[in-house]
Amino acid sequence: MDQPDGKYSIVVEHLVKKFGSFTAVNDVSFKVKEGEIFGLLGPNGAGKTTTISILSTIVNLTSGKASIYGRDVVHEKDAVRNLIGIVFQDPSLDDELTGRENLDIHARLYGVKGKAKLEAIDRVLKLVELDDKANIQVRAYSGGMKRRLEIARGFIHDPKVLFLDEPTIGLDPQTRRKIWDYILHLNEREKVTIILTTHYMEEADELCDRIAIIDHGKIIKVDTSEKLKDSLGGDVIKIGTNKPKELVALVKKKKIAVSAMEHDGTVEITAKDGSKALPRIIEFAKGAKIDIEYSTLKRPTLEDVFISLTGKEIRDEQASGADQMKQKWRARGR
Ligand SMILES: Nc1ncnc2c1ncn2[C@@H]1O[C@H](COP(=O)(O)OP(=O)(O)OP(=O)(O)O)[C@@H](O)[C@H]1O
Ligand SMILES: [Mg+2]
Repeated sequence: MDQPDGKYSIVVEHLVKKFGSFTAVNDVSFKVKEGEIFGLLGPNGAGKTTTISILSTIVNLTSGKASIYGRDVVHEKDAVRNLIGIVFQDPSLDDELTGRENLDIHARLYGVKGKAKLEAIDRVLKLVELDDKANIQVRAYSGGMKRRLEIARGFIHDPKVLFLDEPTIGLDPQTRRKIWDYILHLNEREKVTIILTTHYMEEADELCDRIAIIDHGKIIKVDTSEKLKDSLGGDVIKIGTNKPKELVALVKKKKIAVSAMEHDGTVEITAKDGSKALPRIIEFAKGAKIDIEYSTLKRPTLEDVFISLTGKEIRDEQASGADQMKQKWRARGR
C-alpha cells in the first residue's frame, strides 16, 4: 500500500466495528498525512460513516486503534474532539434559527467566546459566502446554502482535522461544484486536513489527494486517483471498423498496445499512452486496407477502477435522484 512520508494527522490500525454479529468495519488501516484531503469512496453500506464516526469519537470501536494527532479516539475523547470538526451525512441545522444563530450555538459549545466568537462567525460565513444571508432563518435556505452553513459550522473552532460525510449528497451538479471549491479553499488557505466520504467518483477525483476504495467494510486499495487509474494499464481506445478481427491481430502483431480485443463488433484497446498509440494504429490500419469508421480515446475513470477491483459498479451521478429522495425522507423524519 502506497503511504506518503511526513507527519500523519490520522493513524488507523486494524480497525474493526461489529454491530452484533455483523461486521461493518473489517480490519481497516490507513494513515492520513497532515494537510491532505483523503477520501473514503464506496457504495451504500460500505462502512464509510461508521469509520468516521469512530474517528470522531461518536461510535465506539470493537477492536483496533485510531488516533488524531497522536490522541487516542477511545482514551482521549475530549482531546480528539477539540482537534476535529464534523459535517454529518444527515442535515443537522436548526431550521427555526438564523444562520448566525446556528453558528453561535456551535461556537459556544466549543468554548469560543466574546470577540473571538464574533470574529470566527464572520470569518466562516465569509468563507462559504453566506455573510449576506446570515440573519435569515435557515428554513429559507436552499439545500446548497444549508450544506455550506454546515461546513462553516464544522470549521468554526478552527479544527486541525475536518470530517465531511458525503458533503454534496443530494445536491445538483452546479451546487456540488461550488461546494468543492469551498472545500479546496479551506484545505489550501487554512491548511486543514480533510477526510471525506463519498460515493461520487467525480467528487473523489476532483477533491482527494488520495482515495481509499472501501467495500463491505474493507479497504481494497489506497492511492492517488492517477495511480489507481494507471493500475489498469493505460488509456482505453475504442475503434469501429469493418474488419475487427484483422485489426486486433494487427495491433497485437505490431505490439502497439497492452491489450486488444473485439467486443460487440468494436475493437477495444488498452495502451500505455493512448494519444501516441492511436495515430499509429490508424496508420497501420490504412496500410493493411482496414477501414476505420470511428475512434474514441479516454483515460480510465475511477468507475473503471472500481469495477476492476470489485466486479461491480458503484452508484454514481444517476443515483442523485435517489439520494434526494433519501435526503427528503431523512429531513421529514427529524
Ligand atoms: N447502529 C447500527 N446498528 C446496526 N448496523 C449498523 C449500524 N450503523 C451502521 N450499521 C450497518 O453497518 C453497515 C455500514 O454502514 P455505514 O453507515 O457505515 O455505511 P456507509 O458506507 O456510510 O453507507 P452510505 O453510503 O449509505 O452512507 C451497513 O450495513 C449498516 O446497515
Ligand atoms: Mg454513510
